Amino acid sequence: MYVGADYYPEHWNRERWPIDAGLMKKAGFNVVRLAEFAWVNMEPQEGSYDFELFDEALSVLHANGISAIMCTPTAVMPAWLASKYPEALAMKGDGTRHVWGVRKDNCYCCDDYNRLSEAVTRAMAEHFADVPNVIGWQTDNEFGAPTCMCDKCLAQFQAWLKDKYGSLDSLNAAWGTHFWGHRIKEWSEIPFPADSNAHNPSACLDWKRFHSWLVVEFQRDQVKILRRMCPKHFITHNFMGLFSGLDYYDLASDLDFVSWDNYPVWGKPGIRYDASLGADVMRGLKGKNFWIMEQTAGPSGWGTFGRNPRPGEIRSITYQQLAHGSDGQVWFRWRTCTAGREQYWHGLLGHDGEPLRRYREAAQTASELHKLAPHLAGTKVRAEIAIIYDYDSIWSLEIQPGYPENSVVKAIGRYYGALFRSGVAADIVPPGTDLSKYRLVLAPAFHVVPDAVADSLDEYVKSGGILLTDCRFAVKDENNLCHERTLPGKLSDTFGIRIEEYESVDGGAAYHLSYGAEGKEFTVEGYTDWVTAMDAESMGKFYDGHLSSFAPVTRHGVGKGVAWYCGVVVTEEEFYDNLVRDLLREAGIEPVADLPNGVEATMREGEVGRFLFIVNHLDMAASVSLPCQGTELLTDKHVAGEISLAGFGVAVVRVEG
Ligand code: GLA
Ligand code: ZN
Repeated sequence: MYVGADYYPEHWNRERWPIDAGLMKKAGFNVVRLAEFAWVNMEPQEGSYDFELFDEALSVLHANGISAIMCTPTAVMPAWLASKYPEALAMKGDGTRHVWGVRKDNCYCCDDYNRLSEAVTRAMAEHFADVPNVIGWQTDNEFGAPTCMCDKCLAQFQAWLKDKYGSLDSLNAAWGTHFWGHRIKEWSEIPFPADSNAHNPSACLDWKRFHSWLVVEFQRDQVKILRRMCPKHFITHNFMGLFSGLDYYDLASDLDFVSWDNYPVWGKPGIRYDASLGADVMRGLKGKNFWIMEQTAGPSGWGTFGRNPRPGEIRSITYQQLAHGSDGQVWFRWRTCTAGREQYWHGLLGHDGEPLRRYREAAQTASELHKLAPHLAGTKVRAEIAIIYDYDSIWSLEIQPGYPENSVVKAIGRYYGALFRSGVAADIVPPGTDLSKYRLVLAPAFHVVPDAVADSLDEYVKSGGILLTDCRFAVKDENNLCHERTLPGKLSDTFGIRIEEYESVDGGAAYHLSYGAEGKEFTVEGYTDWVTAMDAESMGKFYDGHLSSFAPVTRHGVGKGVAWYCGVVVTEEEFYDNLVRDLLREAGIEPVADLPNGVEATMREGEVGRFLFIVNHLDMAASVSLPCQGTELLTDKHVAGEISLAGFGVAVVRVEG
């Protein structure tokens, strides 16, 4: 297993390099990520390359048994590039260009920028292909920004639309330009639909798709070069978890595996739901294990910094990711920089370069990871539940949330949190995935649903699956136009319901309902459908008079499966705990363990065996009653019955039997 840190030798005197490499070696580190923003170091002027600094750094690292992942350095253009080719800097909406001196500020349609990006990639690939301790590549850094609004990008957007739609008639139909007299007669008339609160929602969705396509193409040009020239190396990119600016499935498709940047230390210590969901989203991009390419190593921030990871927290964050399928662990960053915008983004070492508490905790974690590595090789999280995660729905709801604060991630989070608390794993999958291997599929806020996808969900249920969807399901088609059917549209018979009316529930106007045998009262805030149960069973009851004939939740057996619909957004977590409990029972899915608050349990399994990860997210001791017995691999002790964990404590049990 690779474990290490993001390292910037160009920030330190050469005399320091052997000290750093020695400390890394002592900590059990065997990998660094290098050269991420070092374009100007490697190409001090156009066309003349100089790799001497990295050659020497690599040889110092090599002497200490440390491998390296090289980065294409295109996230920061050199000053000479910006001044020689001003059009390389992206244009903002007001027509001015970005001022050089930050990062992620290039126009992806600038021929000179693209030519120079390919050239530096080629030069690096050629130079580092056979360096013994170079093992792989990271493309660029955290793709996403910026969205350029220059004339070239506009022409490219128009050309992309022409390619997609073929004719203006079909574009006009897809965008519904009969509204507000927005009919387009020439491709060149199409503007950037930059105001997502006011421009045509169909055009806005296409612009998001276009931007994503442009970035994926940019990466693809680099990947082609690296594949050809460095066949021995892997290629990855550092993704940003729940970031929604790009279609991450597309961005991942050209890579060997996904890596991601995980910074879960903000505010007071709490349960890291987002880091858990982020990890599952990352694992779902390629349906395989991933790496952490950057992970919180200390207080973080650009102007002000946040809290310090508490003793044990650096370690427990790592185990959470390991439990979700991480196969490589890299901390950001090795040592806190004394210069530049990230002086307060703390590394494992402080400004003083001393190996103190955070270093020691990372070193302890590294040695444990090496101990676990042979056990975990080839193991994966095996889930019986899939959650559909769809960028079209994410984007459509960013453009028009429907009701205030609505988003796909929030909607998923309501159910995901309940799964997490019950100790049940889920895979996050794109629409169109073969769902037949899953016993339960959740499709929260699945908003953009083309007819073919609706048909496949119907098929899934009829052949024995359990499906749950909820508010605003299938309101839109693939063009971001509303379907012309009574909701839930094509799947009305599948769910056995009709939704003739619906509303936001905001401004303090809450409704109340009961759900479950206990008859407990819950609060509806945000949104409600007025669901008429036709053939479906009504699973709860509204207390409010005018809603009393409608069903908050419905359940409908159809074919060999069951389709559930939840038409309310409820404030209390307990409602989702109860609903998810009923779904798990329906699907015959057993939790991995019965868990106290704040403790997470996940199973990784493979031919070598089954491994139960238990992670305490809170700074207080907890005890868990084990569903199995086995060997706790960090202590080499046999465990059965109760196991106690210190605050931020972890356990990895090799399950027997
Ligand atoms: C991101 C980047 C890093 C660094 C950190 C801290 O994750 O990838 O280069 O800038 O944020 O700001
Ligand atoms: Zn541009």
